[in-house]
Amino acid sequence: MAIHKVGVVGAGLMGAGIAQVSAQAGFPTVVREVSAPLLDKGVGAIFKFMQAGVDKGKVAPLDLDRVRENLRGTTELRDLAGCDLVIEAVPEKLDLKRALWGELDGVCQPEAIFASNTSSLSITEMSTFVKRPARFIGLHFFNPVPLMKLVEVVRTVRTEPAALQAAQAWCLAIGKTAVNCGDSTGFVVNRLLVPYMIDAVRLYEQGVASRDDIDNAMRLGCGYPMGPLFLADYVGLDTTASICDIMFDEFKEPRFAAPPLLKRMVLAGLHGRKSGRGFYDWSTQPPS
Ligand code: CAA
Repeated sequence: MAIHKVGVVGAGLMGAGIAQVSAQAGFPTVVREVSAPLLDKGVGAIFKFMQAGVDKGKVAPLDLDRVRENLRGTTELRDLAGCDLVIEAVPEKLDLKRALWGELDGVCQPEAIFASNTSSLSITEMSTFVKRPARFIGLHFFNPVPLMKLVEVVRTVRTEPAALQAAQAWCLAIGKTAVNCGDSTGFVVNRLLVPYMIDAVRLYEQGVASRDDIDNAMRLGCGYPMGPLFLADYVGLDTTASICDIMFDEFKEPRFAAPPLLKRMVLAGLHGRKSGRGFYDWSTQPPS
């Protein structure tokens, strides 16, 4: 089971990054968005990021050419026929994913591997949406996808070894390190990272330390590249709160419950970097 051609559904932050690294590694890659403006935005972000990399001397101009050559955008799911691996990176709504996977199941060859980039929904549940549950896995990337080296490769009780091996080989080919894990909510990274970020929100909420003191403490005391409140903004406060809800629902442990302040910031539309305001003001450079 070899992967030659890749399909990515969704050209948002994660989907665009996944499509970029796939095309950059030489795989013909089709990325699908629901509308032409969203597709243009996603593909535009890829080339903007790559051009910035070229300007910084971090990306070879040849890599940019390779992406131009291998990347194709579409608004039609049927253009994903012929892909050996299809990765879904659409909003975390199970009904949306159910409809999408059902349609893709009819479009793609039965041998194709289906993978979801979900950060917290059940891979096992999604595998029941298709007639190929043995070839349904999780491939969980990290933000920013082109810079973060990890992919969590998630198996269910029905995943066949050949599908896992093909996906692991593809991760290696795109320059990522794969870690394997079972389909447990939050997998490895979010199971550890999300309680840490929301504990930082609780410290702030309780007035134990200021925003900058909490973030500086973890950056300078532990060598983390970003403090937890900055990182929560970076990931998205709405995304963080939604992962909390799913983990709390699964494990029923208070440590996974979204703190009241986080919930209220989300209600108020303060979603972090994506909305321009969260714990930080992202309209300034650097965020203040
Ligand atoms: N193209 C190529 N390379 C680029 C680039 C570009 N456009 N822009 C920057 N780079 C390179 C830089 O040159 C630099 O390379 P060197 O280390 O070799 O010098 C490197 O990438 C880092 O870039 P910067 O120096 O500009 O920025 P930084 O040092 O502040 O690092 C960061 C940025 C990599 C994002 C770092 O802050 C970091 O690792 N933060 C933590 C991010 C994180 O935890 N992500 C996971 C979130 S959780 C998630 O995603 C899962 C979920 O489900 C919620």
